[in-house]
Amino acid sequence: MKILTIVGARPQFVKAAAVSRAIRVLNDLRDFHGRRGSKQRIWEILVHTGQHYDYSMNEVFFEELALPKPDHHLGVGSCSHAQQTALMLERIETILEKERPEVVLVYGDTNSTLAGALAAAKANIPVAHVEAGLRSYNRSMPEETNRVLTDHLSAFLFCPTALAVRNLSREGIRDGEETVVKNVGDVMYDSILYYADIAERKSTILQDLKLFSAEDLRPGTYYLATLHRAGNTDHPKRLSAILKALDEIGRENPVILPLHPRTQKMMETYQLRVRERRIKLIEPVSYLNMIKLMSHARMILTDSGGVQREAYWLRTPCLVLREETEWVETVNTGWNLLVGTDTKKIVEGMKRLEGSKPREKRRELFGDGKASEQIVQILLERQVHR
Ligand code: UD1
Repeated sequence: MKILTIVGARPQFVKAAAVSRAIRVLNDLRDFHGRRGSKQRIWEILVHTGQHYDYSMNEVFFEELALPKPDHHLGVGSCSHAQQTALMLERIETILEKERPEVVLVYGDTNSTLAGALAAAKANIPVAHVEAGLRSYNRSMPEETNRVLTDHLSAFLFCPTALAVRNLSREGIRDGEETVVKNVGDVMYDSILYYADIAERKSTILQDLKLFSAEDLRPGTYYLATLHRAGNTDHPKRLSAILKALDEIGRENPVILPLHPRTQKMMETYQLRVRERRIKLIEPVSYLNMIKLMSHARMILTDSGGVQREAYWLRTPCLVLREETEWVETVNTGWNLLVGTDTKKIVEGMKRLEGSKPREKRRELFGDGKASEQIVQILLERQVHR
């Protein structure tokens, strides 16, 4: 079976690596007599759109996650949303004509996801969407448009949660003859289970950072912030309010802020900066370094979807710098707190979360760490019946 996987942006490398590993394991499985299968059961072709291209946003993930080198690199890079999506669409179509895969596998909600799904659907190739069914119900987010359209183009909808299945059902997308809708769990959970110990052993980021004093880097002392959502970074008022909140927190506590290139660019454009000496701006960090930073932080402040769940899995309290989230389970269970982007609300939220105990015992809301295996198995089984 030939699968064509499309990736392009940082979080997709993490998700695709988990499924790629499951494919390699399956291909390597020995048969009944202990012999290795004579032919590969799944042949995966990897396409990189080029949406993320800096070493720290791209190559380092391929290195750490042992992702195979892309078979095709489309070199699209940064441009407006329409232009970026259109360039990808055109170039993916050419690859699909050449490769003729049986399924196209796309991840998450980026422009690379939508372009991959649309190109495949137009070529009559079934689309498999990993992380299907998520909704923030905020149509001003480019990701929400990408999610909704990708789901409606897909034949296989691999949902990370029960709520995602219900969201799809409300839009008329249900499990049946033509469409597979399954709650398989979250591939990012598979990944964190696999890499948490490795990160703990291998990452030296806490020593390497050499920030402030040795005291500041003790586990549970520093705050970790990440910020990259266009809805936050591209609005000077919102971005300024968030940076002010970090300044307030940074007055008394060390804060580590790995800067996404978009955020750095917008801070320069709007001439915004953080003033507190104890806020450490650093380059974007690798996956293993990020896991280490997250698991030892006192608290995380973020607008990232991935980091919200990773904080939950690593049991680090997390403030979500958005007005709504598609990962409502982490908030409903009292682990994460949704605070928006107002300076006062962020600082108050930080104090509230510091002083409170999570409402519920941490539950397995995102599957059992075997989402990737299930995805591969379902694709194989369904292919047989097509
Ligand atoms: C994209 C996704 C977002 C995802 C995020 C993960 C869309 C609409 N958004 O947002 O859902 O959460 O990736 O990071 O697809 N840049 C560089 N180097 C890079 C990549 C980007 O300098 O390697 C700069 C460019 O100036 C670019 C800006 O960052 O214009 C934004 O990059 P882009 O890929 O457009 O979107 P992200 O903000 O990364």
